[in-house]
Amino acid sequence: LLRPAAPQPLAGKHVLITAGPTHEPIDPVRYIANRSSGKQGFAIAAAAQAAGASVTLIAGPVELRDPQGVRVIRVEAARDMLAAVEAALPADIAIFAAAVADWRVAEQGGQKLKKDGNGVPPLQLVENPDILATIAQRQHGRPPLVIGFAAETEHLIDHATAKLQRKRCDWIVANDVSPATGVMGGDRNTVHLLIRDGDQIRQEAWPLMAKDEVATALVQRIADAIGSFAA
Ligand code: CTP
Ligand code: CA
Repeated sequence: LLRPAAPQPLAGKHVLITAGPTHEPIDPVRYIANRSSGKQGFAIAAAAQAAGASVTLIAGPVELRDPQGVRVIRVEAARDMLAAVEAALPADIAIFAAAVADWRVAEQGGQKLKKDGNGVPPLQLVENPDILATIAQRQHGRPPLVIGFAAETEHLIDHATAKLQRKRCDWIVANDVSPATGVMGGDRNTVHLLIRDGDQIRQEAWPLMAKDEVATALVQRIADAIGSFAA
């Protein structure tokens, strides 16, 4: 069977992607989680692989199968995800699609917490490391293109712009998850792409698309931009 070779605009590039939720243990049988499905990050991994990239996908606990030809590293908690990301560097492009748990329990119980008749357990929360901000602000070995996500239910552009500035990534895929449009865990996304351009931030509004179409469009945008940043 003779087919024309697919275009490989990301050939020779290492693309690192985080996806899915994280699970933060409370005790050996309980954890804190969120509703991230991992679908968008897995779709980006597949699209980047199809574009010729070598892809490392660092995935929290999700039921999705490994995309073909992608190196998948499965992790549970945010701190494991950060360690796996750092171990997978260097990368040419890093895309942080994971819905990392913002907080974990300060002291994980070694045994299952029991109802002991003295009321509810006092669970103290502490903040998890910000994986995207940590990588975007690295002095050495920062990937030349660092892309974050922002899922917002209101003030999409303002909140996403603030995240772009605060975390110092290059692009943000701002995702409208207000109940009217994007509900988390669905198959479609309404996306605005925010692009840092010197002191300016450029904005592209994309139409409502399936998550695999968002993935293909994002990979296409990366391929178009790849000449314009230093590798
Ligand atoms: N992110 C991360 N590590 C964290 C929290 C977030 O890498 N501990 C990344 C996400 O993968 C995403 C981006 O940061 O690319 C924005 O995540 P989001 O949850 O929207 O931002 P937060 O800074 O956590 O703010 P908030 O949840 O309060 O809106
Ligand atoms: Ca968050």
